[in-house]
Order: sequence, then structure tokens, then C-alpha cells
Amino acid sequence: MKYGIIGGTGIYDLNNNLTEKTIKTPYGPVEIQTIKIEEDEIIFLPRHGKGHQVLPHQVNYQGNIWALKEYGIQTILATAAVGSLRENLKIGDAVVLKDFIDFTQNRKNTFFDGEKGEIAHVSMADPYCQDLRNLLKKQGLSQEAIYVCTQGPRFETAAEINFYAQIGADVVGMTNVPEVVLAKELGLCYACIGIITNMATGLTTTEATGEEIIEAVNQKKTDLTQIFIKIFKEHQKTEKTCSCQTALIKV
Ligand code: HPA
Repeated sequence: MKYGIIGGTGIYDLNNNLTEKTIKTPYGPVEIQTIKIEEDEIIFLPRHGKGHQVLPHQVNYQGNIWALKEYGIQTILATAAVGSLRENLKIGDAVVLKDFIDFTQNRKNTFFDGEKGEIAHVSMADPYCQDLRNLLKKQGLSQEAIYVCTQGPRFETAAEINFYAQIGADVVGMTNVPEVVLAKELGLCYACIGIITNMATGLTTTEATGEEIIEAVNQKKTDLTQIFIKIFKEHQKTEKTCSCQTALIKV
């Protein structure tokens, strides 16, 4: 079986033993890296490109998700760097995203824009795969969080963070929307771990440095990769109860 890992800030490659490939998609070419683990193949896709040259609002989200589906992947685990809006969620903690609030603007956020005459609406009742979330919980990742996605690339003001916290967000980032939405449109099982790299604006008087962000992610990287590989195997064995393959409603 083939499985996908989408890595966020600071998680650019899994190890040195990988093969690089380019997948052609209607949204442009996408570079992936693959490693063989026994009879399985893990495909790694650095969301921001290798070396972090692509800004959050410029990521080719459509190309990335299309490429993984095209390559034969049904299950994706992703990571994303996030800021914390809650005192109890600390730098270095990993949270399982359970829902999102979208404040992005003008992103290409659907495969069904009406241009090909296909009209569809995807249900967001369960944006993150419930089966994968259950498996993450079993692996000890029991803290769940609501993610607010901002347009970036600037960070938020203190007033914005205060507002996002009041409307129910726990963590903030710039990349999970539309990634999670596009995965659901293609019927993929997708879950995402937020790695807390900083306290959001106004929750601390010291700004996080770039090095601190990378350091917080690096500490989690090896652990999470091992956990993801275990979960892929378990997910393959367990009976599916999620709604990922039936969430797209064509009209
Ligand atoms: N805001 C937005 N995106 C982020 C942050 C933040 O504080 N930290 C990591 N990604």
C-alpha cells in the first residue's frame, strides 16, 4: 500500500534514503519523495517545497492533493506548525486537529469550481478523518484542537487572536485550509497534527524566533514519523467507519 505524509514548516524530508519523483497534475508538476518500508511505500510531500521557499498563500494545494491521489494514495497524515491561543497548549505540544475556522482569502479552494460543468458540495461535518483521529488518540495524541486558518503571510494582531479565541479557535496557522478540504473532495482519509511552535500574538511578550520554531518541530519530527507509520498499518487493518469517501455531494 501507498501512504502520504504532508510535512509542514521544519519537516522537509524523512531520511536520506529516498527516491525523488515528479508527478504531473492538471495544476502543474509536484515533487514527491518516496521510501519503501517493507511492502509499503510512504510518500512524503513537503508542503512548502524543499527548503521552505513557498509561502502559505502560494502553496499549490490543488496540485499537492491531486498528485497524492494520482499516485494511488488513499490515506494522508499531515503536520502543520501552529501558534497556541490557549495557555494550557504549550510550545512543543502536538494537537490533533478536530475542526477548522477559515479566514483565508482568494485561495483556490475547490476542484469543483463549475468550469468543467461539474457542481459539487463537500460536507464539512467531519473535516478530519474520524478513523485516523481515533488511531492518533490510541497512540497517545489525545489533545484535540480547533484550528483557525489565516491568510498570512503576516502574523496576526493581538486583537485578531483575541477574537479567534473567543469564537472557539485553539490554534492558528496559515496552511490547513484548503488542504483538508481538497483531500475530502477527492474522498481521501486525511488527518493533521498541529505542532505548537509559539504562543500566538498577545499571549506572550516575547516573539518566537525562526530557530525556535524549527527547533520545536524538529523535536517532534522523528517521533511523529514513527507514529504515522504505525497508524498507516493499523488503518489498513481496521474496518472503515469514517465518512471520507461519501462526503462529496454532486448536484
Ligand atoms: N500564526 C499563524 N501561523 C502560525 C503561527 C502563528 O502564530 N505559528 C505557526 N504558524
